[in-house]
Amino acid sequence: MKKFTIPFLSAVLFTVSLNSCAEQKKKRVINFPETDLAEEYLIPKPLEVTADSGGFALDTFTVIYTSSAKGYEEVGKFLAEKIKAKTNLIVPVNVAEILNMESAIYINLSDSFDLEGPEAYQLIISPDSLVLNSHTAEGAFRGIQTIRQLIPEVGCDTLAANEIWMIPTGIINDAPQFEYRGTMLDVARHFFKVEDVKTYIDNLAYYKLNTLHLHLTDDQGWRIEIKSWPKLTEIGGASEVGGGPGGYYTQLDYSEIVRHATANYITIIPEIDMPGHTNAASVAYPILNGNGKIAKVYTAMRVGFSTLDTHKDTVYTFIDDVIREVSALSPGPYFHIGGDESHVTDKEDFIPFINRVEKIVQKHGKRMIGWEEIANAGMDSTSIAQFWRSKKNTLTAVDKGMKVILSPAKKAYLDMKYDEDSEFGLDWVGHVPVDVAYKWAPESYESIPIENILGIEGPLWSETINTISELEYLAFPRIIGFAELGWTIRENRDWEDYRIRLANQTPYLKRMNINYYRSPVIEWKQ
Ligand code: ACM
Repeated sequence: MKKFTIPFLSAVLFTVSLNSCAEQKKKRVINFPETDLAEEYLIPKPLEVTADSGGFALDTFTVIYTSSAKGYEEVGKFLAEKIKAKTNLIVPVNVAEILNMESAIYINLSDSFDLEGPEAYQLIISPDSLVLNSHTAEGAFRGIQTIRQLIPEVGCDTLAANEIWMIPTGIINDAPQFEYRGTMLDVARHFFKVEDVKTYIDNLAYYKLNTLHLHLTDDQGWRIEIKSWPKLTEIGGASEVGGGPGGYYTQLDYSEIVRHATANYITIIPEIDMPGHTNAASVAYPILNGNGKIAKVYTAMRVGFSTLDTHKDTVYTFIDDVIREVSALSPGPYFHIGGDESHVTDKEDFIPFINRVEKIVQKHGKRMIGWEEIANAGMDSTSIAQFWRSKKNTLTAVDKGMKVILSPAKKAYLDMKYDEDSEFGLDWVGHVPVDVAYKWAPESYESIPIENILGIEGPLWSETINTISELEYLAFPRIIGFAELGWTIRENRDWEDYRIRLANQTPYLKRMNINYYRSPVIEWKQ
């Protein structure tokens, strides 16, 4: 294990020690009340917390220093922005000269702690410094979410001459259980504006989620501009469930979502659903249609009637163009091809179709994800199956050596009603109250070996929702529980403990103006 040696940091300390000679007399003594880092309302719950009863004062004297390694300064600035938004404090980042440094946050590239993985981090919180160590800027980004959660909602001006926000001292060592922790947003059944998707991303990042899967196309609408097939959006983008105006992302809009997600260390996974769920594409380009009927604009909710014509070369040219254009805009490693509910595609057509599409995805440099039905094709073991309903299909994927993303509808579908009083949502798999959504163990679900589990995702289908407020009603608070299921190991999860931590998210949820469902199973902090 290497020691904690960062040239940049030693330079900073040197400057400080020179200055601190002159400034010694001014050293503040703050008598903090006793603290307990282990009792903070953190979500997801970290791997290891060692509390020691003191306090670190975040105040007008606080400064942030970061490693000069790639991405670290941006993480420091991101933290400073969030501190400003919460406390109104202006915290300088990497300023050259500080006269009186008594409260410093260091964000370091370091391998001086034992946990591995790009998202691992360590926080060492002492009375005069808060040190965040990580192996990558991504790890630092996850770590600053913990810092954000530790900053009290209100400051205190009775402990010192100036207002302070007291952070409990101690050590946190933390890393996620699963590398994939996400949600899916269906922008096809109803369209969501770029600004709404960005707002959702901001709140996902706060709970350390790292993936947003966008369901970009379906029977009712096509939402992403494809320059080589312009009618997809001109015609296919102009409809939605219920007959509203629809909408679509230009390639610039989509790139803006990707840029914002990347700044929040969230990977966007584009999904172009095929060969079923393709009515909107067939309305735009009838040559694609394989169900033997004339495709008409569709605004109802029943599924399973559409298919591409899997025998036509034009269809594969179309798929190649779409996957090429969307992949070029998507820096993440994955491309999702749907593959679900192709009820009118013959099985003998479905299997070669999926195999051919897999090759196209790979040709464009991506790893293919599909809903669990794709496991019935002779898949490459690098492709990934997403479990939503059938254990049998999912275990077939496991037998083929594939990784699996867990989204079992009866636990993880964010569009299911919470209970009979839910204003929005469907109920084809029953209700999914907040406790049911939390009280399951992805690591031992349906006999799927943990080695095959890439992670967990909560899909949010949008048949019944149309606005960001309705989206938030279904997503929050269940998505917060999924963030914990994906990050926190089984031994550290407990419903009674989580309930209290969740109840104490209200200051954040209110400050962010999130329309969360006030589930009666939680005693929400007022
Ligand atoms: C699905 O819910 N059709 C994946």
